[in-house]
Amino acid sequence: MAKKLLFVCLGNICRSPAAENIMNHLIEQEGLGDRFICDSAGTGGWHVGALPDRRMRAAAKERGLDFVGSARQFEAMDLREFDLILAMDKDNYRNILALDPQRKFTDKVKMMCDYCETYTDKEVPDPYYGGADGFNYVIDLLFDACGGLLKSLKSH
Ligand code: 4NP
Repeated sequence: MAKKLLFVCLGNICRSPAAENIMNHLIEQEGLGDRFICDSAGTGGWHVGALPDRRMRAAAKERGLDFVGSARQFEAMDLREFDLILAMDKDNYRNILALDPQRKFTDKVKMMCDYCETYTDKEVPDPYYGGADGFNYVIDLLFDACGGLLKSLKSH
């Protein structure tokens, strides 16, 4: 059965849709489309239904990638539904686990940057209030983290 991965940030318009789209790109490149299902969500609900942020789509486009998606809010059911939940920062991690008061799903929730191989960041920085550089940085960082994540998943 395909492994279900959920990428989570705050708004689900910048970091987590980027992670989802980059992960799908790497999965397709390796011809592993039947082994993984990727989705993303935000702990906040302000942008529900929105496309990925246009600045994030523009940064992706420069690398020949088209980021798709429609924002949705993370919900408690996701903890049951997904096999692995990747938090972009510590606030996201805390807010995800706040929906698991019995601590049944703690082991499924990881920090995205734990999978980085080159970058030493502990969190994926929120680019929302910054300039284009921030969006480019997030894409580079997520390519590193998604590559490491895919490697880790393939070896298990
Ligand atoms: P994201 O970025 O969590 O990476 O999607 C943000 C998007 C929206 C807001 C904050 C961060 N906001 O405050 O609306």
